[in-house]
Amino acid sequence: MRVLFLGPPAAGKGTQAEKVHEQLDIPLVVTGDILRKAVKSKNAVGIEAEEYMKKGELVPDQLVIKIITNRLEEEDCRQKGFLLDGFPRTSEQAKTLDRELAKKNLSLDKVVYFSIRDEICIERISGRRNCRQCGAVYHLKNKPPKIENKCDRCSGVLVQRMDDTAEVMTTRLKTYHEKTAPLLTYYQQKNIVEEINAEQPIEEVLREAIEKTTGNG
Ligand code: AP5
Repeated sequence: MRVLFLGPPAAGKGTQAEKVHEQLDIPLVVTGDILRKAVKSKNAVGIEAEEYMKKGELVPDQLVIKIITNRLEEEDCRQKGFLLDGFPRTSEQAKTLDRELAKKNLSLDKVVYFSIRDEICIERISGRRNCRQCGAVYHLKNKPPKIENKCDRCSGVLVQRMDDTAEVMTTRLKTYHEKTAPLLTYYQQKNIVEEINAEQPIEEVLREAIEKTTGNG
């Protein structure tokens, strides 16, 4: 199975991708997490990517394309397919992915589109907290940790992502509407889009995400 979760920042893609990956045993490829890991390790990719990420802009296509196409060549993705979260995000990335898959007589099976209004994304971003150690995602109101400010999984400290400020979120939403939202039409023309209502509570969105990902909707 080769699936893409598409939607605006803070739509809940990462929250659902993690659960779908666990339930369906499908390799999960999260571009943002790969880039954040590079930033943390201060390697050459991370140093270049951080400049864009902290402003809410997209990292240059050639950098992201190389990282993700390499990741998709790994054994787990070749055996089981993949669930993509955060890639493609531009027309160039989408076309390259199609070209690379076509070389192996493959294509994306499904695009699950997270439909949600900008104002809900802004509300979700302001309350989001991430574990500094393992990256687990929480929300102060919608998905609080059991112990305040401590990760349920590893007891790490919860922090706000560097790009989760109101100012940067404005740029991220603008970038999404300009560069990424047009991909919806691109994939609709291929007849592979399944839309879900991402404004529902987490468990309801999960039910729809599983149905739409597996084609049992
Ligand atoms: P990335 O990490 O991909 O960020 P994003 O797309 O902005 O998505 P988010 O991680 O912010 O949101 P999400 O939809 O996963 O929401 P979440 O589940 O956390 O990208 C970051 C940056 O990296 C980009 O700006 C860019 O610079 C760079 N980058 C990445 N990919 C790139 C690419 N392909 N090309 C170029 N640059 C790239 O949920 C949000 C909050 O809401 C959480 O607190 C959660 O608990 C809560 N929540 C989730 N679902 C619900 C619900 N149903 N009800 C209530 N609350 C909910």
